[in-house]
Amino acid sequence: MTTANKIYTVPDEVKQRSFIDKHAYQSMYQESVENPEGFWGEHGKRLHWIKPYSKVKNTSFEYPDVSIKWYEDGVLNVSQNCVDRHLETRGDQTAIIWEPDDPETPAKHITYKQLHEEVCRFANVLLANGVKKGDTVTIYLPMIPEVAYAMLACARIGAVHSIVFAGFSAESLAGRIEDCGSKVVITADEGLRGGKRVSLKKNVDTALKHAPVVEKVIIVRHTGGLDPEMASNPGIDVDYSRAREEVAPTCAPEEMNAEDPLFILYTSGSTGKPKGVLHTTGGYLVYASMTHQYVFDYHDGDVYWCTADVGWVTGHSYIVYGPLANGATTLMFEGVPSYPDAARFWQVVDKHDVNIFYTAPTAIRALMGAGDKFLDGTSRKSLRLLGSVGEPINPEAWDWYYEKVGEERCPIVDTWWQTETGGILITPLPGATDLKAGSATLPFFGVQPALMDADGNVLDGPASGNLVILDSWPGQMRTIFGDHERFVETYFSAYKGKYFTGDGCRRDDDGYYWITGRVDDVINVSGHRMGTAEVESALVSHPKVSEAAVVGYPHDIKGQGIYCYVTLMEGEVSSDELRLELRKWVREEIGPIASPDKIQFAPGLPKTRSGKIMRRILRKIAEDDFSNLGDTSTLADPGVVDDLVENRQHKA
Ligand code: WTA
Repeated sequence: MTTANKIYTVPDEVKQRSFIDKHAYQSMYQESVENPEGFWGEHGKRLHWIKPYSKVKNTSFEYPDVSIKWYEDGVLNVSQNCVDRHLETRGDQTAIIWEPDDPETPAKHITYKQLHEEVCRFANVLLANGVKKGDTVTIYLPMIPEVAYAMLACARIGAVHSIVFAGFSAESLAGRIEDCGSKVVITADEGLRGGKRVSLKKNVDTALKHAPVVEKVIIVRHTGGLDPEMASNPGIDVDYSRAREEVAPTCAPEEMNAEDPLFILYTSGSTGKPKGVLHTTGGYLVYASMTHQYVFDYHDGDVYWCTADVGWVTGHSYIVYGPLANGATTLMFEGVPSYPDAARFWQVVDKHDVNIFYTAPTAIRALMGAGDKFLDGTSRKSLRLLGSVGEPINPEAWDWYYEKVGEERCPIVDTWWQTETGGILITPLPGATDLKAGSATLPFFGVQPALMDADGNVLDGPASGNLVILDSWPGQMRTIFGDHERFVETYFSAYKGKYFTGDGCRRDDDGYYWITGRVDDVINVSGHRMGTAEVESALVSHPKVSEAAVVGYPHDIKGQGIYCYVTLMEGEVSSDELRLELRKWVREEIGPIASPDKIQFAPGLPKTRSGKIMRRILRKIAEDDFSNLGDTSTLADPGVVDDLVENRQHKA
């Protein structure tokens, strides 16, 4: 039996402790899809509502009149749910454990009481700087507690946050600020990752040149590497540590409708610029908190650690909103898995007695590659449950995670979801689901996956096809900020009446789902989602480049690497220097996460007679799969393929 077919049944200890067993899963799942109104009406009560809802579900996937509303007449406030609600029962409990980049720097333990004061002060600073309900605020912060304060402060006053991952360049930041029209940007002097400083404030200054909409920049002092007293933008820069002292420590939460926007998060699609995925208040929080509780089997007193960055959706839903809504202790880690060395994750687990640990396959593969010696000397006895997210986890990495990290004690929840879905859609539940290495297993409550063939038919039984979801769930995105038509076209036009995920998927004999990866031009590099079109547009903006085509190829650690085919302008000469220059260029245009792994100079690209680039061929060449190039006779110039194969780039 290959590992991929081996079934790991639920251990007794897990069964005894968990909220849901196999039977409960089946009956709750059935109810959730047969009577979503009743099911979600009941589970919506897990939140505190200022005014309870009377309507639960009002959704339509009908093309082109897609409309999604949950709990639409309910009134609540997200920060009240994540903070104030816990003050009476767990005010002195730690809400956030902050583990700094440098293990020598002391960790911080922030109680719910302290969190309350910090969120209120941050909210008051935003108000004092002119932020009003409904305004957008861009957050460009590293992994420090202030990022959670800032998010919750926005939610408290009804402002809509848009977090831009601190690894994005000034250029990317400016585009996102402009798109959502943020007058206020929150940043820090510098970030710190793996001992290296990231000049955030400097990037904001550069971004301001292209984003004249910005009126205030609020600067958190973190490294002290840049003195906000020496403000480079008088009248714009605000020193947060000073402003914090000047405001009151309390701030009343704003009454928000369940369908008021909570946040925008930009993500990559197969075409064009990143789109602003919009999530709203009530349904999102019900879904984030419920999945956090059941998927991670979170019980009071557990210490929970999700290693994602808050710049991605995983950080939104499973570092901040889900855990805090549940009154959890959530660990926030500033650093990287390999610093000071590959034992860091496990040392942090031991240091803070982490029970639940949630990370990405790319990190698991990198740590596995570093060798088991980094596990020696750490105990990891506190661990009870392991999670994986962001990309398919290969069975080898799954086995290592299960056998070596969790010592066969800890179930692995392989959670499939997307920025668009707000929370986890396909996943094991620890007490209920037998595991198979590499399968995300079964749908969460209320989620109805289906597989489609190329002709638009729904496939039954064991099958492979494109993954769609048949009906709405509360955490679903509502629209693309400022472009509802693009939302409808992107997700509901391929298969009318169904939400198209962009992923390929296989369902096995047991009804288990195995995500096979994107079927569009989105690639997944170290768990970071990227549009090949974005990298192409960065490349062609270089004066020496006339044309570019970018594809993903299998990469041992990153999952996928970035392979670029570049055609130069007439008269330009290819060279290794130019390769370096182009790589630097892309990093500056998008950010270091988009660094091309391989650049191949190509005198011509394979095109059809109508001028369309045949990406299928480019993917095959990048994968070294020359035997399978398919029919090249329809190409305008079949000869270009020979040149591409001959000059395939093996080195970076
Ligand atoms: C991929 C991250 C396989 C998938 C939460 C999806 C996964 C994209 C898994 C969304 C998983 C995420 N198994 N593939 N467990 N989780 N993906 O928006 O291709 O950054 O469409 O959200 O990541 O990436 P995003």
